[in-house]
Amino acid sequence: MEYVKMTEGIEFSRVVLGFWRLHDWKLSTDQLIRFLEECLDLGITTMDHADIYGDYTVEELFGDSLRKRPDLRSRMQIITKCGIVYKSETARVKYYNYSKDYIMGQVEKSLNYMGTDYIDCLLLHRPSPFMDPEVVSAAFEQLHQSGKVKSFGVSNFLPNEFRMLKSYLKVPMVTNQIELSPLNMTNLENGVLNQCLEERIHPMIWSPLAGGRIFTEQSEVAIRLRETLEEIRQEIGAEDIDEVAFAWLFSHPAKPIPITGSGEIELASRPVKALKYKLTQEQWFMIWTAVKGHKVP
Ligand SMILES: NC(=O)c1ccc[n+]([C@@H]2O[C@H](COP(=O)([O-])OP(=O)(O)OC[C@H]3O[C@@H](n4cnc5c(N)ncnc54)[C@H](OP(=O)(O)O)[C@@H]3O)[C@@H](O)[C@H]2O)c1
Repeated sequence: MEYVKMTEGIEFSRVVLGFWRLHDWKLSTDQLIRFLEECLDLGITTMDHADIYGDYTVEELFGDSLRKRPDLRSRMQIITKCGIVYKSETARVKYYNYSKDYIMGQVEKSLNYMGTDYIDCLLLHRPSPFMDPEVVSAAFEQLHQSGKVKSFGVSNFLPNEFRMLKSYLKVPMVTNQIELSPLNMTNLENGVLNQCLEERIHPMIWSPLAGGRIFTEQSEVAIRLRETLEEIRQEIGAEDIDEVAFAWLFSHPAKPIPITGSGEIELASRPVKALKYKLTQEQWFMIWTAVKGHKVP
């Protein structure tokens, strides 16, 4: 496994485990503990959460395993996110809340649910047109000084949103967690990855397999993509086309950190295996061309 230095004192594993789909995995606490141990043994030490996952229930389920096996906490880094408020009995619409009280309150809840006294990295889940960066800065500073949050970042931010917030913060922003896969290249083209290079930060990548659509989608684009992934799989000697899709991400100079969304150890190990492959410039553009359906200009 490779480890990536995010900031002073914070390293993430190059492959991160994401918990958005934890309920789909249908694991008992003991089964989840076993899965966590297997991932840790593979070197996947960074765990990606959000307060809202599983309709606000996933952090607590995950915490049940840490309460049963507190020794696992020191072997991992925990990321969580806040800011999205789902429509509910107490919220008339879905909205974003980046008030200081809300940020501080959600962090307290995450700490309690997960049975830990610190979070390694807190991300703002989505940019908000109503965010006051001075308020966010004050919340981050207080959380940092109290030792409850070690580092900070954002998710789904465009370059101007990232730059604006950064200009108010006294703590560094260590990542922007974004969607990227051969089936969704938007962030390759809108300046987000370039900004990561400019800022010398490493993007975390969500839905690196397009949520599984790489294997299942029946569109012309997805079929062309699978044929190309298969051609490259044979060239590099990978076991499965998902390894080629991960290699396509790993090969990018911004050093992206993909988050695997699978609860099966065999599938979660595929990106780890893919770390050994480096695509050539030509192979990288074969995938680009298959998806775009035309050659580069
Ligand atoms: N910041 C954000 O806004 C945001 C948004 C979405 C997600 N995320 C984070 O990103 C993580 C990953 O996202 P994701 O779950 O969409 O990732 P993904 O890896 O693109 O998709 C996971 C899905 O693909 C399937 N899959 C994985 N490997 C496979 C393989 N080799 N063959 C066939 N199917 C395979 C999985 O099936 P199985 O379930 O059968 O294993 C699962 O249903 C989430 O858990 C969450 O932590 C963040």
